Amino acid sequence: MKTHPRIERELELLDTEEGDAAFFARLGLAGEAIFELFSSLYGDHPDFQDQLARLLATLRDAYRARPERLKALDRERERSEPWYLKPGLAAYMLYLDRFAGDLRGFERKIPYLEELGVKLVHLMPFWRCPAGNSDGGYAISDYLLVDPRLGAEAELVETADKLHRRGMYLAADLVLNHSADDHPWALAAKAGDRRHREYYYVFPDRTMPDRFEAAMPEVFPETAPGNFTWVPELESWVMTVFHPFQWDLNWSNPELFLEMLGVLAGMANMGIDLIRLDAVPYLWKRPGTSCQNLDEAHTIVRLLKACALVVAPGVAFLAEAIVQPSEIVRYLDTAEADECQLAYHASLMALLWEALATRKASLLSLSLGEETRLASGTAWLSYVRCHDDIGLGYDDRRIERVGYEPRLHRRFLLDYYSGRFPGSPASGRLFMENPNTGDARISGSCASLAGLETALASGDEAAVELALRRIELLYGLACSIVGIPMLFAGDEIGLRNDYSWESVSELAEDNRWMHRPIMDWKAAGRRKKPGSLEARLFGRIARYLALRTAIPAFAQDAPFEILPSPGENLFLCLRRPTRAEGRATAQGRANAGAGNSADAEPTEGERPWVLVAANFAPEPRRLGAAALPFALSGSRELLSDRPLVDGDPALEAYGLLWIELSAPGSP
Ligand code: GLC
Ligand code: GLC
Repeated sequence: MKTHPRIERELELLDTEEGDAAFFARLGLAGEAIFELFSSLYGDHPDFQDQLARLLATLRDAYRARPERLKALDRERERSEPWYLKPGLAAYMLYLDRFAGDLRGFERKIPYLEELGVKLVHLMPFWRCPAGNSDGGYAISDYLLVDPRLGAEAELVETADKLHRRGMYLAADLVLNHSADDHPWALAAKAGDRRHREYYYVFPDRTMPDRFEAAMPEVFPETAPGNFTWVPELESWVMTVFHPFQWDLNWSNPELFLEMLGVLAGMANMGIDLIRLDAVPYLWKRPGTSCQNLDEAHTIVRLLKACALVVAPGVAFLAEAIVQPSEIVRYLDTAEADECQLAYHASLMALLWEALATRKASLLSLSLGEETRLASGTAWLSYVRCHDDIGLGYDDRRIERVGYEPRLHRRFLLDYYSGRFPGSPASGRLFMENPNTGDARISGSCASLAGLETALASGDEAAVELALRRIELLYGLACSIVGIPMLFAGDEIGLRNDYSWESVSELAEDNRWMHRPIMDWKAAGRRKKPGSLEARLFGRIARYLALRTAIPAFAQDAPFEILPSPGENLFLCLRRPTRAEGRATAQGRANAGAGNSADAEPTEGERPWVLVAANFAPEPRRLGAAALPFALSGSRELLSDRPLVDGDPALEAYGLLWIELSAPGSP
């Protein structure tokens, strides 16, 4: 093994046991990178050598603690294509308490998810958190203790195991930017413990906080203005970028890094397959900067990733980086460095809602058309709604290029989705309106933002029909433009805003709760009742998920090409399966059954290209096939499963077509 002498010295000191062979082999590959990254962050620290030794010991202990069952899974996953690229993988996010009460309740609902076609389940934070407001569990009081209200560690392990046996996967949060102010580290700091005080950013007076504030934006300007909180027990200001009860962790302290490495390993060893790195852009702080997306934040992710590859190579990372498009992609693996395999496609999400409001696909097409192509082995998580607000994170220059004034355009979108714009069917609300900057974000469930709530209240059947089509259009696109589609619990049955949060004191300040409804199982039961809106939406989404499994062009990492639109309401996107380096094509895999078989490389004719065509207008439109660089005759429309009879098909109001081209390779 050739590594740096300083790491070699430590490796020699590490005792070995029979059974550690795989660990040392992996360390042989990753050791150099781990050393480089660790020393670039903490090399100047006086205790560096000791900390390096502890890092390696942490990894070794974590490896030894990893259950044999999971080690076997790791080996299996190392041999095959990445599990998150398996054909048809689709994700679903839910709150245990709101969806099913607790972990046991969730297990009983797994068949429901299977019926829908879901394979990857993100259980929202289920770790111990403060009673009362915990930011939906994103204030962690104990990183490795399952909240007793939701279950216990043994149940979590069983749940993971059950999912695995059904070919499913579990995602969970590592809330690494901050802990709750009642975490034992914070309590120890408050009690005067110096070591733990240094886990946080603590300042005795306003000098440093003021320097930071000069360049830091605010996450919750309405309810938690500023980025620091005065803590009487410490007689100091503590950095609290999110809520006052969420204390930012100081990752410039190697001791904190080592603690969190233990947490990461602990989570992996419970059987979690995908670790969601919460609020990852915020990990490193430097006065004079926005304290977002700093290079060191990326170094931390790379280091955690290198460590994870040694202990639990079957585990993948998901970046929660809701920042500008050009910054989001930096959290994904590239040829040069490993970070996360998956990231939320926040720009796609925001663009879909923009297109729905404007009825025009121009900004969506322009923005996606200029998107960076991802490295092989990585993929987007394509979603329509999640538990958070919708931020209007568009590129201003692109807004201008499609002919709008950025400030006015954002104002329009805010007015539209809060229902203030005349004729808007949406019933959302503004989230975190900032009077100083005029900024705001949007809250509201998918169904309510798409107009279903208003339409049902008015009893206007035509309006209900249009609202259902809008929901179907957005989810249809999330299932076909790119990446892994992800559903938010309840969207598949069109759950509307839930206003009960307003009367719960600890939730009342945060209107994101309006779009986190308690699962309505009675409504879900109606999915079996023909003619009900639940049957229609559930059926449609289940069909999207089932169909895309069999469409090689919709493989999670298959690229897309945006075609010039023959009309401003239309969005055209061409998908084609490619044979990524070292990976069989989706079709190849399907032909071969399971596994990665190079022999199964299909001929061109077996790998059709698919044209995704969407109409954002509330009236029918012709596709305008004459302007396409290929002919549609002889093609098949997959959603209706019918051959295209018309060479220039019509799209109905908010219509979507998945057209399998008869002659692949012709464009
Ligand atoms: C993430 C979560 C959000 C939470 C924040 C702080 O952005 O999605 O709900 O408020 O992190 O943890
Ligand atoms: C995270 C997200 C941001 C969101 C916030 C609270 O910081 O990055 O977009 O608004 O959490 O929901």
